[in-house]
Amino acid sequence: MKHIAIIGYGVVGGGITAVIEENKAFIERMVGDCVNVKYILDLREFPDSPYGDRVVHDIETLIDDRDISVVCETMGGSHPAYEYSVALMRSGKSVVTSNKEVVASFGDELLRCAAENGVTYMFEASVGGGIPVIRPFTTSLAGDSIGKIDGILNGTTNYILTRMKESGCSFEEALSEAQTLGYAERNPTNDVDGIDSKRKIMILAALASGKLVDNDCAYAETMTKVSAADNKAAEKWGGAVKLVASAVIDHANDKLALYVCPQFVPFSCPLAHISDVYNGVMVNSPVTGDVMFYGRGAGRFPTAGAVVDDVCAILSGAAAAETTPVFEKTSRGAVPFAELKFEYYVRTRPESKSDALEFLNSTCGKVQVIDSEDSGVLEAIVGEANLDEIRHICDNIGAVESVIRVWKNA
Ligand code: HSE
Repeated sequence: MKHIAIIGYGVVGGGITAVIEENKAFIERMVGDCVNVKYILDLREFPDSPYGDRVVHDIETLIDDRDISVVCETMGGSHPAYEYSVALMRSGKSVVTSNKEVVASFGDELLRCAAENGVTYMFEASVGGGIPVIRPFTTSLAGDSIGKIDGILNGTTNYILTRMKESGCSFEEALSEAQTLGYAERNPTNDVDGIDSKRKIMILAALASGKLVDNDCAYAETMTKVSAADNKAAEKWGGAVKLVASAVIDHANDKLALYVCPQFVPFSCPLAHISDVYNGVMVNSPVTGDVMFYGRGAGRFPTAGAVVDDVCAILSGAAAAETTPVFEKTSRGAVPFAELKFEYYVRTRPESKSDALEFLNSTCGKVQVIDSEDSGVLEAIVGEANLDEIRHICDNIGAVESVIRVWKNA
């Protein structure tokens, strides 16, 4: 029998015991042995749970038990998840996590700690929930030099944007609906301000480049300002507004740029069609072209399933045969977001539409006017411009109501 433990018995932690029970026979066949959850570490008691008698409150119990070979860390947050993971790996236990915050902040150290102690650190569930997207980077795509990653990596915000588009409701109404359904938390900041997506694109970029950039080298912009008018304009233009997390990796020049922001995504790109709480990740390499991953990016069972998949990979020996990622914590080559050039959607309410248009035509390489139902409004796709340039443009075209970047395929 193989013994494992779970740290943090919340939504995902609880899902792990359920998945192990549900898939018992299948897991036994994959692992070649049965898998027993010996301990659950949590601050709370769970008297009504069939696992209530396995609950412990002291990490030392797990550290000292030589029977435990894998620990699932589903507690979230950086601390004490980081310290617990290090202590467990030093005591010879492999660690599997769904915790993107700890991987984005300490992934380099945690992977090194695993290597130094002859154990495994895996984090498939940290990005894209149930979508197998982490291990393909080091297995199936190991020979590709991935140059671009674009992802809808946050289910909550994609649900909000989908509802706004479909029903024409406001951000606040869609958020409230998402909270009622249990998708969005009471404090939705991490999701709506792009922080969650930023952590996830940092992890994917580290897999593709080997560099785990410092937090402030990746840009995140809120999606709370997206309006029904923006959605209508995107549709007329031929696309949808999505919160996209992007990584541009220039291997030859040792440069990379990471950013998360609302983007006008054309319908020709598969990401424009990803709705509700689903996630999608598009990976591009010069060798393979575009590869698309799609599925349930959040939720109890998809995420718990991804944790259990990692557990099985370790217990079956499959993980030991795979290349282990190595992350270097560095800001070397990180391109400041302000320098990046984009096309932009702008909506303005100028005193004179013809003057505003004349300014745009004389300043921007491209001006594509979008027909507007509101006669007082000028809507256009303009660019390309960096941050200073688009600010200068906006300062000269009247009362600007909206500025949204256009997704670029390179
Ligand atoms: N809050 C996250 C989301 C959970 O909505 O995608 C999964 O990481």
